[in-house]
Amino acid sequence: MLITGGAGFIGANFAHHVRRCHPGYRIILLDALTYAGNRSSLRPIIDHIEFVHGDVRDADVLDRLVAASDTVVHFAAESHVDNSLLDPAPFVQTNLVGTFNLLEAVRRYDRRLHHISTDEVFGDLPLDSDERFTELSRYDPSSPYAATKAGSDMLVRAWVRSYGVRATISNCANNYGPYQHVEKFIPRQITNVLAGDRPKVYGRGDNVREWTHVDDHNTAIDAILRSGRMGETYLVGSGQECDNRQIVRLILELMGRPADDFDLVTDRPGHDARYANDSDKLRTELGWKPRYADLSAGLAGTIDWYRRNGWWWKPQKDATEERYRRLGR
Ligand code: NAD
Ligand code: DAU
Repeated sequence: MLITGGAGFIGANFAHHVRRCHPGYRIILLDALTYAGNRSSLRPIIDHIEFVHGDVRDADVLDRLVAASDTVVHFAAESHVDNSLLDPAPFVQTNLVGTFNLLEAVRRYDRRLHHISTDEVFGDLPLDSDERFTELSRYDPSSPYAATKAGSDMLVRAWVRSYGVRATISNCANNYGPYQHVEKFIPRQITNVLAGDRPKVYGRGDNVREWTHVDDHNTAIDAILRSGRMGETYLVGSGQECDNRQIVRLILELMGRPADDFDLVTDRPGHDARYANDSDKLRTELGWKPRYADLSAGLAGTIDWYRRNGWWWKPQKDATEERYRRLGR
């Protein structure tokens, strides 16, 4: 199995999952080790995988690695909305050109591909509705990040239809858990508290996300790899929606701090109001269900992980906060 982007948050957790649940698999892991990639996330399994420091923008490296694999799981991406607003260029190169290179390689060697995508391709939902995205929702991305992910999904769909490439797509809601870069909402707030700073909430904090534990995302990917129908898209989500103020209050309470001990800061331009996925197809067709049904318990475990693993996140923290300070956030 070739895992692209396997030194990032979800990819590294997926590599741990595969090693744990499918110890007989040979894992090749390709990662460019951008600011978001961290080889030390692979420390517990490093002797059991083949790590290749390489780039999905490099068609030759993909040709060689895809030829040597049966299955490819494609996580590699520029993943942070705020960064895409500042400089969209690497998003176009990695998310679009990188996915194109990979599709050409899997087409050449007739390999099975699973493409990891996001609910952000559908744009956002009104705050005051019960509506949820489905596999049939219209693509309507807001940010440069979401637009490049939408484009990558479209490339996969076209390669399935026109060239018969054997591929599936999953669009997951927001993930949280161990090894997530401190630029993202939940780890930023946990590590702010651990560092003695106040959490920072954009705008009024009304924006709603559906929080899914990374291990639940990865069991969904595993189920799709085993039993998903070729050419199909599956939406993944825990069903646990919360606005950003609620999440920060919960983190503060779990960390023994007053629930209102946070700052409201400058909002993100074009900030999507609400994401929520209808994951019924995945649940009924493939029997998937989230193990982390209780967000508070999942968050407590995540807080505990960051508390115990300062060696992992502290080296990223100052530079990340400096970037946010320059944005007034
Ligand atoms: P991440 O930013 O933590 O990790 C991305 C990884 O890709 C890093 O290790 C980075 O070094 C690597 N990478 C970047 N550019 C590369 C390139 N050109 N060649 C090779 N490797 C490269 O991201 P993540 O949060 O783990 O997200 C993984 C995937 O899941 C992405 O495709 C993202 O769109 C999708 N996704 C993320 C979430 C979420 O909540 N984090 C939710 C749904 C979908
Ligand atoms: O929905 C899936 C997407 O979730 C993935 O495709 C993206 O890769 C992933 O980054 C995530 O996107 P978001 O933009 O939703 O995640 P982020 O962690 O950046 O922000 C979550 C919410 O919290 C969002 O409403 C913005 C807000 N926020 C974020 C930060 C970093 C704050 O209020 N304060 C912050 O400091």
